[in-house]
Amino acid sequence: MRTQVGIIGAGPAGLLLSHLLHLRGISSVVLEKRSRDYIERRVRAGVLEQGTVDTLVEAGVGERMLREGLPHHGIELRYGGAGHRIPFEKLVPGRAITVYGQQEVVKDLIAARLAAGGDVRFEVEDVEVHSLEPGSDTGPYVTFGGERLDCDVIAGCDGFHGVSRPSIPEDVLTVFEREYPFAWLGILANVTPSSEELIYARTDRGFALHSMRSPSVSRFYLQVPADTRIEDWPDERIWDELRARLENVPGFSLTTGEITEKGVTPMRSFVVEPMQYGRLYLAGDAAHIVPPTGAKGLNLAVADVRVLTEALAAYFSDGSTALLDGYSEACLKRVWRAQHFSWWMTTLLHTFEDEDAYGRRLQLSYLDYVTSSEAAATTLAENYVGLPYGS
Ligand code: FAD
Ligand code: DHB
Repeated sequence: MRTQVGIIGAGPAGLLLSHLLHLRGISSVVLEKRSRDYIERRVRAGVLEQGTVDTLVEAGVGERMLREGLPHHGIELRYGGAGHRIPFEKLVPGRAITVYGQQEVVKDLIAARLAAGGDVRFEVEDVEVHSLEPGSDTGPYVTFGGERLDCDVIAGCDGFHGVSRPSIPEDVLTVFEREYPFAWLGILANVTPSSEELIYARTDRGFALHSMRSPSVSRFYLQVPADTRIEDWPDERIWDELRARLENVPGFSLTTGEITEKGVTPMRSFVVEPMQYGRLYLAGDAAHIVPPTGAKGLNLAVADVRVLTEALAAYFSDGSTALLDGYSEACLKRVWRAQHFSWWMTTLLHTFEDEDAYGRRLQLSYLDYVTSSEAAATTLAENYVGLPYGS
């Protein structure tokens, strides 16, 4: 088998790349370890930046998102017994976010690829990448389940635990990393959201986030210790804790009900540089992870894929490698901005066990500043809705 771009992983990065390449007349094969059903149900991100929404619409895969997604023009920061709105319409006019589940984006992309006759293979086993070395005699190729796929280029879109990044010789990569001493316990519940906008709540019991998926489905997250076992959190305990962390402003009460999904997500900041080796290019979580507080992971994956598409289009049209050679550098500026924002939102809103009273006062002081100074609030707003591409 032969294709121009071998894509490992059918998450948002791999599927969007395959779709954008198809629009440029470039062939690809997507190899995914999990079943289609599994990846279409995997509950993860929910906040799409303006640029992500625009990218999906321009690529012709935004129709359902525009119909069912929920545009939001602000978020609430809740702490010290009061809520404070960060109004996007005032601080970053014309830019907003859309709440639309990641698995819905994945469903829309799979449907578009299959409708166009795209080659997306699910439940593929033992994927390995070969012959990556710059200047090697044969081109790169991928083996899987006894088959071989020859490619001009390989895109490693297989997330943080994939095979692509570990296939690059260690001495080529520099790893930048920070672990956090807590995780997020996330749930999906068949209950009407108790708020029209997202609530990011800082309390002395830990952070809580109220999000949603539709007028009848809510999504919540709780800061929990890193070693938390989901079995220790029956539904009633989750609702009690959410009430304790969210029902602390006058007049707010939480609607509770059936929980349909639960999971614990570790928190990590991680970047490898460069995001490429020979003819292998990493995109999305394969190259970088952010803690979810800033809602940046999926959006960064989309930004990487946009850059990679342009570079591959130039390469396949006239053989020029300048954009491909500069791929990593072109992505890393945005990656590091998102790293900083995600780390900053995380440290602003979570409780840290080793934090002393001085540290807590600093945190509250910064929250007061962000919610009272237009300059500081604009910093949060413009990063949250996403900086323009190329800035
Ligand atoms: P993935 O979605 O991880 O896709 C990689 C794919 O590769 C997977 O389908 C995997 O099965 C496959 N794969 C792995 N190994 C192999 C292999 N060996 N062979 C073949 N296939 C393989 N981001 C936001 O922007 N906004 C948010 O609001 C947000 N909230 C989040 C909340 C939670 C609870 C979590 C967990 C994440 C959140 N994120 C958020 C992050 C976002 O979900 C990720 O950044 C995003 O999924 C990255 O997309 P990706 O395509 O790079 O990787
Ligand atoms: C959601 C996830 C996030 O990480 C975030 O910051 C906001 C919302 C969500 O899943 O809805």
